[in-house]
Amino acid sequence: MPSVTQPLRDEHRELLPQVELLREVADAAGESGPGELLGGVDRVHAFLAGHLIPHATAEERALYPVVNRVLGAEGATATMSRDHVEVGHLTEELAGLRERLADGDVSGQEVRDLRRVLYGLYALLHVHFAKEEEVYLPLLDARLSAAEATAMFEAMEAAAGEAKAAAHAGH
Ligand SMILES: [Fe+2]
Ligand SMILES: [Fe+2]
Repeated sequence: MPSVTQPLRDEHRELLPQVELLREVADAAGESGPGELLGGVDRVHAFLAGHLIPHATAEERALYPVVNRVLGAEGATATMSRDHVEVGHLTEELAGLRERLADGDVSGQEVRDLRRVLYGLYALLHVHFAKEEEVYLPLLDARLSAAEATAMFEAMEAAAGEAKAAAHAGH
């Protein structure tokens, strides 16, 4: 039987190569020139603010409430929501470091801070994606009808579209 949650797995497959970019930029920090480093940080920040955080917002609005309902516990997804909050904090810290780099402030401390934030986000995102795919999606595959899954993904798409428009307006 095809999995009703395949659209979410596909979305994660599209996001994951860009998560690799975080590790690549962290690896190169301190070895590449300041212009190249700033370019990499810009790309990572654009991915997080423009794609990954809207994806998390869409999950908060349309996916996690369904998981809570299926599990029969309102707070079932609270630990995962806390991961999303942490991604937001680290992304804000990255935005601050990006401004300092743009101002030409590239000391050893900035480079160490940048690596910490990028590797921290990399690890957090990998385990977070794995938890959604390995724990939540099998539950939904077992419990949702195709029509319920379609309605859920339509709601996610609408929420992600709104969040992306808001992120764009905030630039
Ligand atoms: Fe998530
Ligand atoms: Fe996700």
